[in-house]
Amino acid sequence: MAEATAPFIRIRGLTRSFGENPVLRGVDLDVFHGETLAVLGGSGSGKSVLLKHLPGLLRPEAGTITVDGVEISNLKERELGPIRRRMGVLFQGGALFDSMNVAENLAFPLRESGMRDESEIAARVAEALEIVQLPGRQDMLPPDLSGGMRKRVALARAIVHRPECVLFDEPHTGLDPVNAAAIDRLILNLRNNLGTTHVIVTHELRSVFRIATRVAFLADGLIHWTGSPDELRDSEDPVLRAFLGDGGYLK
Ligand SMILES: Nc1ncnc2c1ncn2[C@@H]1O[C@H](COP(=O)(O)OP(=O)(O)O)[C@@H](O)[C@H]1O
Ligand SMILES: [Mg+2]
Repeated sequence: MAEATAPFIRIRGLTRSFGENPVLRGVDLDVFHGETLAVLGGSGSGKSVLLKHLPGLLRPEAGTITVDGVEISNLKERELGPIRRRMGVLFQGGALFDSMNVAENLAFPLRESGMRDESEIAARVAEALEIVQLPGRQDMLPPDLSGGMRKRVALARAIVHRPECVLFDEPHTGLDPVNAAAIDRLILNLRNNLGTTHVIVTHELRSVFRIATRVAFLADGLIHWTGSPDELRDSEDPVLRAFLGDGGYLK
C-alpha cells in the first residue's frame, strides 16, 4: 500500500542561510502520518528554522517541502492558507493574548480561518479545553493561569481547528517535571485518540523517550541521524553520545 507509507511532509535538500550563516545545508526528512517525530540538536543548530519552514512561515533558499503531495515552497501567501489549516503550531514562547480571556484566545485562529457561527466556535473552544483537561476555563485571563495551565491553553489554541499535524517548538521549556509530564500525556492522548501527527523540537530527553516514535538529529545543517528512541539510547555515534551525555536521564 503505497499510500500508507507516503509521508505527510517530505523535505528535500532544504537549504537556508541568514547572511553569512548557513543554517540548513540540504536537509532531507520525512514526517509520516501518525508518528511523533522528535527533532534534536544543539542550541542554534537550526531546529526552529527547520520547523518554521513546514507551514511556509520561512521560505527555502533551495530545496522542496511537500505537504500531502503539494509542493509548498513557491505557493503564494494566500495559497498557503489551506495547508496551514492542516497544521497546528505551538511555537517557542508562543504567547497568549493577555488581555483576551481563554475563550477569545482560542477563538482567534477559528475566526481568522473564516469561522463565523458563534455556537460552532463555542463548541470548538469547549472541545479543545476538554482535550487539554481544562474544561470550563473559558473566562479566565492568561495572567491568572499557572505556567503549566498557560502552556496547556496554548496547546488548546494550536489544536482548536483540529489539525492533522501539530508542530511543537520546545513545549517543555520553563515547565517543572510534573507539568512537563502532563504535556507529554496530552500529546500521547492526541496521537492515540485522534491519530494526530507530531513534530516536536525539544531538549527534554525524558520526554523524547516517553513520547517520540522516531528521532531525527540535526547537526551542521544536515540530518545527521534518524532512528527509534531505542536506537538512540544504544547508539555509539560520537556526536549523539556527546549530546546525550552520561545517560542519567534514563535511570
Ligand atoms: N530571523 C533570523 N535572522 C537571522 N538569523 C537567524 C534568524 N532565525 C534564526 N537565525 C539564526 O539561525 C541559527 C539557528 O537558529 P534556530 O533555528 O533558532 O536554532 P535552534 O536549533 O536553537 O532552534 C542561529 O544561528 C540563529 O541565530
Ligand atoms: Mg529553537
